[in-house]
Parts: sequence; C-alpha cells; structure tokens
Amino acid sequence: MLGMSDRALSFGTMAEAYERFRPGYPAALFDMVLTYAGRPVRTALEIGAGTGKATRLLAQRGVTVTATEPDGAMLAELRRHVPANVRTVRAAFEDLRPGESYGLVYAAAALHWTNPEGRWSRMAALVEPGGVFASFGGPVQLADPAVEEAVRVARAPFLASDDVPSPDGTPPGDHLQWPGTELQRSPWFTDVRQSVIERRATMTARDYVGLLSTISAYLVLPAPEREQVYRRIAEVLPDTVEIAADITVHLARRRREP
Ligand SMILES: C[S@@+](CC[C@H](N)C(=O)[O-])C[C@H]1O[C@@H](n2cnc3c(N)ncnc32)[C@H](O)[C@@H]1O
Repeated sequence: MLGMSDRALSFGTMAEAYERFRPGYPAALFDMVLTYAGRPVRTALEIGAGTGKATRLLAQRGVTVTATEPDGAMLAELRRHVPANVRTVRAAFEDLRPGESYGLVYAAAALHWTNPEGRWSRMAALVEPGGVFASFGGPVQLADPAVEEAVRVARAPFLASDDVPSPDGTPPGDHLQWPGTELQRSPWFTDVRQSVIERRATMTARDYVGLLSTISAYLVLPAPEREQVYRRIAEVLPDTVEIAADITVHLARRRREP
C-alpha cells in the first residue's frame, strides 16, 4: 500500500499526460490576484509548479516567477513550456529556506501535498510583508449528473472516490473551505478571501480518461486495476463529455508583524 508521500510524488511518471490533459488556468484568475494585491506584483514564488500551467499564467504577464517543484520529471516538462525568464528550483515546499521573499507566493492544486507542520510560519517567511499568498484549485467533475453517476458505479469496485479530502477535515458544506480556514487561524495572515471562478470544458471521452490518468487516486492503484478501471469508465462515457472544473481561490495578505 502506498502512503501519502508516494501519492504526492506520483505525478512525475505522468508528466507528459499531465501537461496534455489537465486544463490550464484562465486570465480571470490572474486579474483576481492582481486586483486583490492592489499594487503591482513583480516577483512570485510558486510551490509545486508541476508542468507550469499556472507558472505560464503569471510569467506571460510580466511577473518574474521562481517555480519550485520536487519532482524532476514534472520540472523537466515545465521547462519545455515556460518563458526563459522563469527560474526553476527542484525542491519541496518543506525544503525551501527563508532568504529571499516575494510579492506573491502561490500554490496551484499543490498545497494539500505539503506538510502541515509549520506550514504558515514557513510560508510567511517567503512572502514580503504586505504581500499576497494565493492557493487555488478544485476537483474536475462531470457536468452531467447521469454521466457522473455511471462513472461512480464503474469506479466503485476499484476506488470509493477520486476526491482529495479536505486536509483539515472542514465539512464540504461550510462556507469557508481549507486552506482559508487555516489562513484565518494563522497570526501571520489577514484579509482572507475565498472566491470561485467557473471553468467549463468539453472533451472527448478519450481525453477525459487521459485526464483521469493524471489524478493521484488512480495513479497509486496497481497497474492491472488501473487499466481495468479506465476501461470500465470508458465503456460508460458518451463520445464527448462536459466537465465542470471550477477553481476555488484563497487569497490572504501577509501581516507586517504576527
Ligand atoms: C496536482 S499537481 C499540480 C501541478 C501544478 N501546480 C498545476 O496546477 O498544474 C501537484 C504537484 O505538487 C507537487 N508536490 C507534491 N508534494 C509536494 C511538496 N511537499 N512540496 C511542493 N510540491 C509538492 C507534485 O510533485 C505535483 O507536481
């Protein structure tokens, strides 16, 4: 049985598929971060940058991004897709040492993989006083409830769910979700906001199965079971599917003093 850290580092083997099948991030997200910052953002540090889908969003708009990522295969894929002025560092969040600080520190679909112990004091050391922390992401769901249910039934013998559970156990019905909950409790951060950006896409059934092949819950299954679950899911999908992949954004400002 693979543990959580194996699951956190399960993406690298799938770096190319990740780049091909996972949806990117919209310009509206960049605008939201900038509006919240209320001042120009010149430098940013990204945690768990993966293949650089969020790195591109900022770097293409003139922000000097340092992209950090522990998985060498993901980082190699990232380097193929980002502008030359992006600095890349192979490191997990836990290995980043305080030193330089940034106007923006952010994590896209990656913060839940980091160690909760000392997370916010370590984060605060990386953000300039008055600077911004952002975390964003969300599940990719099937928009049609009937298709979603057919997939759930096909998946059930192999996996109860492919969701990533809330890291601090916040019930799904609560208004403020993780990591907003932790940010609000941290003495280092203030002005915590949570917003949702709607993201919809239509894709072929084949690409949808490709997308599933980048989701850690499937990646950690033994190979024969993984192949079977993909086959069973493919059998119940229509030729094209609509996905609902809303992005939940958490923003907070680094206090000058805790
Ligand atoms: C779901 S991917 C997200 C990639 C990218 N940020 C995106 O939005 O497309 C999660 C990433 O977190 C990385 N990761 C896992 N554990 C980490 C840690 N402790 N610190 C930083 N990144 C980590 C994985 O290697 C993987 O690239």
